[in-house]
Amino acid sequence: MLDGVVAQSKYPLAYHITPLHGLLNDPNGLVQFNGKYHVFYQWNPTGTKHINKNWGHMVSDNMVDWERREIALAPSEYYDKDGIYSGSAVVKDGILYLFYTGNVIEEDGTKKSYQCYATSEDGITFDKKGPLFAHPEGFTRHVRDPKVWYSETEAKWFLLLGAQTNELLGTAIWYVSTNLIEWEYLGEILSADSEAYMWECPDLFELDGQWVFLLSPQGLPAKGHQFQNIYHSVYFPVVRAGSKYEMVNEKMLEIDWGFEFYAPQTFEADDGRRILYAWMGVMEPEVEQATPTISEGWIHNLTIPRELQFENGKLKQYPVPELALLRKNKTTYTLSEPWLVASDEYAYELLMDVESEASFTLSIKDGTKLFYDVKDRSLTLERINWLTQQPETRKTLLDQPLTDVHIFIDGSSIEIFSNAGTSVASARFFEEGPFVMRYEGEITGRIDIYELEHKNPLS
Ligand code: FRU
Repeated sequence: MLDGVVAQSKYPLAYHITPLHGLLNDPNGLVQFNGKYHVFYQWNPTGTKHINKNWGHMVSDNMVDWERREIALAPSEYYDKDGIYSGSAVVKDGILYLFYTGNVIEEDGTKKSYQCYATSEDGITFDKKGPLFAHPEGFTRHVRDPKVWYSETEAKWFLLLGAQTNELLGTAIWYVSTNLIEWEYLGEILSADSEAYMWECPDLFELDGQWVFLLSPQGLPAKGHQFQNIYHSVYFPVVRAGSKYEMVNEKMLEIDWGFEFYAPQTFEADDGRRILYAWMGVMEPEVEQATPTISEGWIHNLTIPRELQFENGKLKQYPVPELALLRKNKTTYTLSEPWLVASDEYAYELLMDVESEASFTLSIKDGTKLFYDVKDRSLTLERINWLTQQPETRKTLLDQPLTDVHIFIDGSSIEIFSNAGTSVASARFFEEGPFVMRYEGEITGRIDIYELEHKNPLS
């Protein structure tokens, strides 16, 4: 069941988290509290511009069936009057704590950031408690996106922030606390980045025995097939070195090789899984403003939830198994011959099982295509840019033969997971006309195609 303006959209999304209306950006405050999953998100309920950010709120028992709640946090106080910016959530002694950045524009135009918190006993209504500490010295006003976690081994809480040094370099700083309220400044957690001018939405967690840093840097130059989008989201393994962390190698790797994936945040579920949501996503401002849903009064969605693992120095991402609850009827085709699916349905899950690899093309409508070229083991995602009307591509090279491709399609969104979660891409696409999927290729193998339930967003 769809609600809000998304219900009448020409580009509906059946199972992704969207705003009711207006603009959605980063996922915030991801947490499991009293058994229920809470997803908050940056939300401008009054229009499709990046102003007036609130925390929208969705609650679920299974990350598939969602209940939409009232706005959790709205701008109101001297320390957050121009926006409740991104942040995170933790649970302590049965209380849900939300940490966020208050965005303030003074009358003379000066902009300020306050790191703030709010608490809740029921997970529905939140009490703002105000700023946590003074703005740190040595940084511009670009300090934001608190991510808080508990270290069992140190029996302490840590708070991580994205920041910009006075020399205009991207970095992250951190604080330590025993009670979530009094925080001691620890300084920069890594050495500042000489290529990025700002680091947004940092995240740090232990995964399969390795500490992993996640980050949304701004300003990285393109490198090979990487960093082709306006802003990027990267990961890299780190090790603790005194009151800092160090990169294990000097490489930042893109989390998603598609278009516009941005501002990912993770949380640890009660069963120990590390789950990620991200915003789909960040675009050049002129492309964003040309997005066809703007004329319908809404824009953007979150990704599906992805479970993370870390193996052989690489992040692996899998759609959470709960998404199988969406499955309806299934059809199976061989991958050695062409096939075509044409229907009014637009919500699908595709599972390609590759016995022996070969080149293939999968197209959706006419302009959105996934190619695999067996000669250089390249996967290419092509779509029609809705501003220029020209095709544009993103590409990655696999380091192993193709073994599997798992795709989630939802009207105007595609998420592709290949080779056991080691290579992941997502994108939006906006094309009119009937929903047709075509396959051509000579892979030995088969594909299961499920039509998926329409769930989102439940009111
Ligand atoms: C990332 C970001 C965050 C900020 C929020 C504001 O997309 O710029 O750094 O807190 O969005 O909406």
